[in-house]
Amino acid sequence: MSDPEWWKKSVFYQIYPRSFMDTTGNGIGDLQGIIKKLSYLSNIGIDAIWISPFFQSPMADFGYDVSNYRRVDPLFGSNEDFDILLNKAHDLKLKIIVDMVLSHTSIEHPWFIESRSSKDNPKADWYVWADAKPDGTPPNNWQSVFDGPAWSFDTRRGQYYLHNFLKEQPDLNFYNQNVQKQLLDECEYWLKRGVDGFRLDTANFYTHDAQLRDNPAKVEGQTISNGTQFEKPHPYNMQRHLYDKSQPENFVFLEKLKTLMDRYPNTMTLGEIGDDDPYNLSVDYTENGTPLNTAYNTHFMAGTDSGTLTKNLIETPITLLQNMSKDAWPSWAFANHDVVRPLTRWGKGIKNQDDFSKLLIQILLTLRGTPFLYQGEELGLPEATIDFEQIQDPWGKALWPEWQGRDGCRTPMPWNNNALHSGFSNNENDPWLPIPDEHKIRAVNTQDSDSNSVLNFTKEFLKWRKSKPVLQTGKMDFIKTSNKNILAYNRQLGDHKIICLFNICEEKQEFDGNILAPLEAKFIEK
Ligand code: BGC
Repeated sequence: MSDPEWWKKSVFYQIYPRSFMDTTGNGIGDLQGIIKKLSYLSNIGIDAIWISPFFQSPMADFGYDVSNYRRVDPLFGSNEDFDILLNKAHDLKLKIIVDMVLSHTSIEHPWFIESRSSKDNPKADWYVWADAKPDGTPPNNWQSVFDGPAWSFDTRRGQYYLHNFLKEQPDLNFYNQNVQKQLLDECEYWLKRGVDGFRLDTANFYTHDAQLRDNPAKVEGQTISNGTQFEKPHPYNMQRHLYDKSQPENFVFLEKLKTLMDRYPNTMTLGEIGDDDPYNLSVDYTENGTPLNTAYNTHFMAGTDSGTLTKNLIETPITLLQNMSKDAWPSWAFANHDVVRPLTRWGKGIKNQDDFSKLLIQILLTLRGTPFLYQGEELGLPEATIDFEQIQDPWGKALWPEWQGRDGCRTPMPWNNNALHSGFSNNENDPWLPIPDEHKIRAVNTQDSDSNSVLNFTKEFLKWRKSKPVLQTGKMDFIKTSNKNILAYNRQLGDHKIICLFNICEEKQEFDGNILAPLEAKFIEK
């Protein structure tokens, strides 16, 4: 695909490398494991892969705390392994985008070690440092997404440093031009190695209010979608995030990144946006494909406990975005490494889980925008339950027993239900997270040989989608219906139209002369 807009037509597949395939026997997935499974991915029919971070890291947040942007962590392999992966993927016509975590580094990054060592070292201003208030409390009221204040005190400097996430993830100071320049260099390192683009972690968190003003309290009854999955009262959710993120200066950095990307033809950027008003921001960031190509919205990700799939849930963000801009190109995902798997999140009371999985795949792959599948979604995996003793996610440890955190969607891929650890790892030691029984029975080998499986259905559906340009770039309009169980929309490109109808419940429904069996989707071509 030499088309510069290949990413609009592509279906992406997200790999969480720790849990994809372990070839070294240490219970943790690695790059050679991805290489081994590239033909599996190519056979499914996806076009591009987003790999979650594999850079050197002490793994406080499992790779989202980078201590060297230019080195593959030895846990995952070497830079040479990455080159092999990239070349093999390209041979199979698969694009690869890597996950750049630019907003913060690891506390063990040499830049932070130097920065915290004194107030006058060359990197003193590379992170966000501020004095305590006269009473010793943090500089302002900002809260960390994960838990507690967004500030930690460093005794060496005698100052607080900012961290929007864990205290092990200090925020870089983007007001320092050297920081911006350095980060662009880190990105260019991977562009030179040949990557096809970047997923930009927390792309609206780069800059903060330079005056460090307090965030106001959230107004009672106001709905705020701010990227955290936890539904119970939580300090982060009690504020309006006016000052700790989404500042206008963020845009200036993204424009510099765009200038860099333009020097590497056919590359793309996908920005993760978690904000009180994610739609306005994603339009700002992606209108006419600039400065970012597309934004990854977390609207479909909210909620932890069993809920149900409603028509509104799908219609709301798409309508909001379409009303704001016809040009901004969205990306959609129902699942990723941070959220409860959708089968569990939306499948309350659903008896036929496989049909429900197939329905979700059909919805995701027919929305206007780039779809992102997450590993295991093609197998119809539900969320795994993790015992407290086995929880690895620091967010889960902080919030247990109210919430187990993000491990339930991060358990290893079940490849073969006859093999040790379902074929994920061949070591007798247990993998880093357990593989639940209900995943084992859905392993790739069992689904491969079952023509009715979610896996084979996904393959067929992807093949069909590929043959329909209207589903890739056509416009999308919802069809109004008073039946709350029918989700309906048109996709149209020139004269070609596909009416997409979905029965989202387990009872037969009728719509406009069409009978839809439980959880059935129908596509009527005109
Ligand atoms: C990533 C998370 C990570 C956080 C901090 C996110 O949005 O997807 O996994 O914990 O950024 O880097």
